[in-house]
Order: sequence, then structure tokens, then C-alpha cells
Amino acid sequence: MNHLQHTILVMNGKGGCGKTTLSTNVASYYASKGLNTTLMDYDPQASSSMWHSLRPNNLPPINLITAYERFSTVTRSWKLRIPLDTQRLIIDVPAGMSGFELQDIIKKVDTILIPVTPSPIDIHATSDFIKELILVGKVRSYPIRIGVVANRVKKESPVYLPLIKFLSRLEIPFITMLWDSMNYVKAAENGMGIFDLEDTDCKDDMSSWKELFDWVDEIKDKSSTNIHYISNRLNNNRLV
Ligand SMILES: Nc1ncnc2c1ncn2[C@@H]1O[C@H](COP(=O)(O)OP(=O)(O)O)[C@@H](O)[C@H]1O
Ligand SMILES: [Mg+2]
Repeated sequence: MNHLQHTILVMNGKGGCGKTTLSTNVASYYASKGLNTTLMDYDPQASSSMWHSLRPNNLPPINLITAYERFSTVTRSWKLRIPLDTQRLIIDVPAGMSGFELQDIIKKVDTILIPVTPSPIDIHATSDFIKELILVGKVRSYPIRIGVVANRVKKESPVYLPLIKFLSRLEIPFITMLWDSMNYVKAAENGMGIFDLEDTDCKDDMSSWKELFDWVDEIKDKSSTNIHYISNRLNNNRLV
């Protein structure tokens, strides 16, 4: 695990797919590993901030930035508000964020995680969202990695063929599947992530995360998503 600052943006055009669940679990994982972790909440619904306010004092601390309160001054104050010694910065953005706000944030991130729930409607919306992210969000101008995480997967039906097909055409990695599990709900109620719960209660859930953290912390190399390549493919209309 490298200890330099790594900025992880969690986003999807859809609400309810697990952005806050992913953000808070990623933040509490890195905090539990002793890294200086900052959680930035851009969502006016303030779910990550609410989660943070419930977090017990005896757990590894996480810095919170409620960025939604100062939407218009993002760029100017960005550096000032993030604790300088932050090693992992996790950003939870609302479903509807677009335009300049989005482009401003995208310029500053290393990794984008996109949670998606396994319904045909959500998969379709997420596919459109990824296309827009690449074309309108202009991620092609920056060395950013994008990975998709399937969330709320039911053990009896882990079928993802349409999504997997779409992602493989774009060469976007499908990182891991998180089970639909009450452990996430129980943990969130108490300002925790599943890494703050007893191992024995959620071994199954924890194992899904190994692939995610291996990928997030992997040193950027040739196997990382090549944004230029993806945008060329989109521009060439080879995805239809
Ligand atoms: N893997 C999961 N298993 C069970 N419940 C989940 C899971 N992921 C999210 N949820 C629940 O689904 C709801 C929406 O998740 P949330 O993370 O708030 O989505 P978003 O931030 O994208 O709107 C919440 O009530 C959350 O507790
Ligand atoms: Mg949310």
C-alpha cells in the first residue's frame, strides 16, 4: 500500500446504487489501516456527513469535509481545506453532478469508482453515465483510472453479462461484487464500515473488498485503464 495521497472519487448518475456505502467503507478501511483519511461529502443530502457524525470516538478517526456547503468555491479553496497530511481522500458526489463542478473535481482525482446495482435499468443508466463521463467529463485529458463495482449483488443471481460485455468493450475493469448484506446497513447506522465490525460476522463481505483495495492501491502500469484508448473507441462509435 503506498502512502502518498491518493484521491478516489465515488460516483454514478443514479441515486441509491451505493455511492455513500462505498465511500464510507473505503474511508473506514483506510483509517483502520492507519492511513490519514479524509472523506469529502459533495452531496447536499449529506449522508456521508451524517454517517461521520455517528462515528464513535474510539474508532480510527476520519477527517470530514462538507464540500456541498461551498459548491461554487470548489477550485479556489480545494487545497486549503484538505488536511495536508491526507493519504487517502475519498469523495462522495451526488447523482446529478455535472458540468463545470464535475470537471473541476475530475481534474484532481486519481481513481473513479462507480458502484452499480444489478438491475437492467441501473446497468443501462450506468452505461450511459460512463459514456458521458468520458466524453463530456473530459476524463480523457487526465491520467485517471475508472473501475466499476457491482453492489447489492444477491448470492442467488450474480449475473452481470450485459454490464461485463459493455465494460470489456471499453476496457474498463469490473473490480468486484459486494453482496446485498445487512452488515452494511448495521455498520452504517453506527458510523462504521464493515471493517469496524467483528470479523466473524462478515467474513464473506470482507473478502469481496480485497480485490477492490488491491486494484485501488496497485501502482499505475500498463494494465491500468487507458482513457485515450477508451475515448477513441467512443468517438469512433464502435460501441453501438
Ligand atoms: N451492499 C449492500 N447491501 C445492503 N444494503 C445496501 C448495500 N449497499 C447499499 N445499501 C443500502 O442501500 C441504500 C442506498 O445506498 P447508498 O450508499 O446510500 O446509495 P447512494 O449514496 O448511491 O444514494 C442505503 O439504505 C444503504 O444502506
Ligand atoms: Mg449517497
